[in-house]
Amino acid sequence: MIVLGIESSCDETSASIIRDYKLLSNITISQEIHSDFGGVVPEIASREHQKNIIYVVDKAIKEASVDINDINGIAVTYGAGLKGALLVGLNFAKGMSIALGIPYIGVNHLEGHLFSNIMENEEIDFPFISLIVSGGHTQIWKVNSIGDYVLLANTVDDAAGEAFDKGARLLGLSYPGGPEIQKKSKGGDCNYVDFPRPKVKGSKYDFSFSGLKTSLMYYLKDLDENMILDNINHIAASYQEAIIDTLLNRLSLITKDHNINYVSIAGGVAANKRFREKSEILSKESNLNIFFPDFQLCTDNAGMIAMAGYQKIKDGYKSDLDLEANPNLSL
Ligand code: KG4
Ligand code: ZN
Repeated sequence: MIVLGIESSCDETSASIIRDYKLLSNITISQEIHSDFGGVVPEIASREHQKNIIYVVDKAIKEASVDINDINGIAVTYGAGLKGALLVGLNFAKGMSIALGIPYIGVNHLEGHLFSNIMENEEIDFPFISLIVSGGHTQIWKVNSIGDYVLLANTVDDAAGEAFDKGARLLGLSYPGGPEIQKKSKGGDCNYVDFPRPKVKGSKYDFSFSGLKTSLMYYLKDLDENMILDNINHIAASYQEAIIDTLLNRLSLITKDHNINYVSIAGGVAANKRFREKSEILSKESNLNIFFPDFQLCTDNAGMIAMAGYQKIKDGYKSDLDLEANPNLSL
C-alpha cells in the first residue's frame, strides 16, 4: 500500500511517499524567510506553504518513482499548529483525495513525532517513554501501544525549542535559535555560567523554561557588548547545557519511576548534538535504550505523518471532508 504524507503545521512544507512502512521520499522545504523576523510569522508561513505545496508533493512522488494513480491514501496533519498553515496542507489533501478518488486521514502532528522513531527502529519495545521536544512542545509520554498514550510531563510555560529560540534572540543570533546556539557553543565551557535547572513547584516531572530565559536576560544585562561577544561560546554552551540537563533529569526520573528502559526522543531539539552526547552517557549509566531519529526526521516532516496515518488508512479509517484544522489539537 502506498501513502502520501503532507505536513504544513508550522514553517516546514513537506510531502512524503511511503510504501508498506518504507520511506521512499521525504521532501521538506524549511521557510528560511522567518529568520528575518526572529520567529515564525503565521501569515507569511501560510503564503509560503501555498507557494511550496505543489512542488514538494510533485517532487515526493517523482523521487519515490511511483505513479500518482497508484497512491492508496493520504495522511495529512490537521493539528496542532498554526491555523492558516494547517489549512494549506489539509485543503490540498482534501482536493487530491477527491480528484484521485482515494481516502485521506487527518493526523495529529504529535503522533507523527512519536512515529519518527518507531518507523526507523524496529527494536523499540512497548511500553516506551517518548520525549517530544520541539518549538511548540516539551512533553513526556508513556506509549503503551500505537494509539494508547499517557501524558506524564508537560511544560508549564515555554517549550525547550522556544527556550533555545528566545535565548538565541537575546544573544543576537538568528532564528531558529537551536542550531545557532549549538554552533556558537562549539569549544565553549558549559560551566562558565551557572544557569538554573528549573523545577516546577508541586510537580516532580513538569518543565518550566521561561525562568531560564529570564536568567540569561539578567546575566547579559550586566555585561558590555564586547564582553558578550568575547565569551559568546561559553555563554551559549552554559545555556544549552541547562536546557539539556533539565530534559535529561526528567527523563531519568520518569524511566526509573516507571521502570521502563526504552526511550524515544523526537522533535526539532532532538537534532542537538550535545543533547545526543549527554543522552548517550545517561543511557550507559542507567542502562537505558535511547533512540533518536535520523536528523532529517527530527524536525517537522511528512514522513512521520505518513507513518502515523498508514495503519489507520490500512484499517479502513478515513476523515470526512468537513474535518477542520485544529490549532490546539492534543493527543
Ligand atoms: O519539531 P520542530 O521542527 O517544529 C516544531 O514543531 O516546533 O522544532 C523546531 C524547534 C526550534 O525551536 C529549533 O530552535 C529547535 O527545534 N532546534 C534545535 C536544533 N535544531 C532545531 N534546538 C537545539 N539544537 C538543534 N540542533
Ligand atoms: Zn513538530
